[in-house]
Amino acid sequence: MPSWHPSSWQEKTATQQPTYPDDAVTARVVEQISRLPPLVTSWEVEALKAQLGQASRGEMFLLQGGDCAESFDECHPDGITAKLKILLQMSLVLMHATRKQVIRVGRLAGQYAKPRSADTETRGDVTLPTYRGDLFNRSGFTDAERTPDPELMLRGYERAALTLNFIRALSDGGFADLHHPEYWDLSFVAHAHRRADYARIVDQIRGSVAFMEAITGTQLEEMKRVDVYTSHEGLALLYEQAQTRRVPRREGFYNLSTHYPWIGMRTAQVDGAHVEYFRGIRNPVAVKVGPGMTAEWLTQLVDVLHPDDEPGRLTLIARLGHDRVEELLPPLIETVRATGRTVLWTCDPMHGNTEKLDSGVKTRRFDNILSELQQSFEIHRRMGSVLGGVHFEMTGEDVTECIGGARGLSEQDLQRAYRSSVDPRLNYEQALEMAISITGQLGELERAGASR
Ligand code: PEP
Ligand code: CO
Repeated sequence: MPSWHPSSWQEKTATQQPTYPDDAVTARVVEQISRLPPLVTSWEVEALKAQLGQASRGEMFLLQGGDCAESFDECHPDGITAKLKILLQMSLVLMHATRKQVIRVGRLAGQYAKPRSADTETRGDVTLPTYRGDLFNRSGFTDAERTPDPELMLRGYERAALTLNFIRALSDGGFADLHHPEYWDLSFVAHAHRRADYARIVDQIRGSVAFMEAITGTQLEEMKRVDVYTSHEGLALLYEQAQTRRVPRREGFYNLSTHYPWIGMRTAQVDGAHVEYFRGIRNPVAVKVGPGMTAEWLTQLVDVLHPDDEPGRLTLIARLGHDRVEELLPPLIETVRATGRTVLWTCDPMHGNTEKLDSGVKTRRFDNILSELQQSFEIHRRMGSVLGGVHFEMTGEDVTECIGGARGLSEQDLQRAYRSSVDPRLNYEQALEMAISITGQLGELERAGASR
């Protein structure tokens, strides 16, 4: 392999990047970010990698979720707390079903850049650069707002730091304490159709904790805090490069802007700049695997990104669609098997199930999302493989972006609180319901594991 350094990607074709007006200004911003403190540490990154290795063997389970795109404006306490709450509640449900530790990873503190299908957008007779996320430009339709501004990378770094600071404080203090799962209830949970199911799970957990503490005669300190890791699509390569560092007493380079970056489906070309950048960092990394993935392509990706078969290094996030997963997933599992390497397979049941309604609104149907998930569990089970995690676009808030779920959201309801400027997310109730809906299959996994 040719030698690698944090900017060697610049010798390759980098798609989905903005064209900044002034290279000198851009270089100055990158230099500035590279001198600021890291957002995460290599200790955390390595701890997560080891846990993902366990998930790839079916010993832990990964829950990854959050917004399609974070926005700078929505960096406020309520939104962040709501995201943490839904992540904690879902993980509680999943832990209860699998009897395994759940690794919690947010799509947050850096999920500010989006791949787009077109470079420009035309309204009437005006054509402007497309909106690529708050890290690159602004969504308003004026020349000034759409012109990529490198200063936004600095603003993004700061927003990510503010978000992460609050998340860390909440997960370390009393908020995440398993003795008090009632802290996580949301104001509108009282109306949730799955309230009773969730309450039953919480009661059982509370009972188990009390039982353990009665036996041991101590308070279980481990129950009082949780780990929450961050992830985002590593799309904006200058931003990623600026936070790629060597650390004392460890080999190689770490991307310290996030624990666990992923390569999106549109930028996963083996000879492209994104794969070049990702191959050299020591973080655990993920790649989205869509319907266009071929056996040859996947084999090359595994070779380039996962040459040493290091446990937890590579995650493949399949996003194939409920109507194609049965046809497409089994050969992909076989392909990876033939490489002789172990990956963590997870399922993103969101991105293969997006549809556009006649009204032009983008949505996803709860039943299709659940169906892709259920089929994926079944395919892995049948093939003696492990589905070690799930990946959702979701929010802790009461939005109406996806159709269906126990409350029966319809096309008409979407107008009420459609807030995503990009992909439609599961709302609080739908996300919790999704977790509860797969507990049956997760329970089967747990039983199969116990009898092995
Ligand atoms: C995303 O995760 O928001 C995304 C754009 O996914 P994909 O690359 O799988 O289309
Ligand atoms: Co998305």
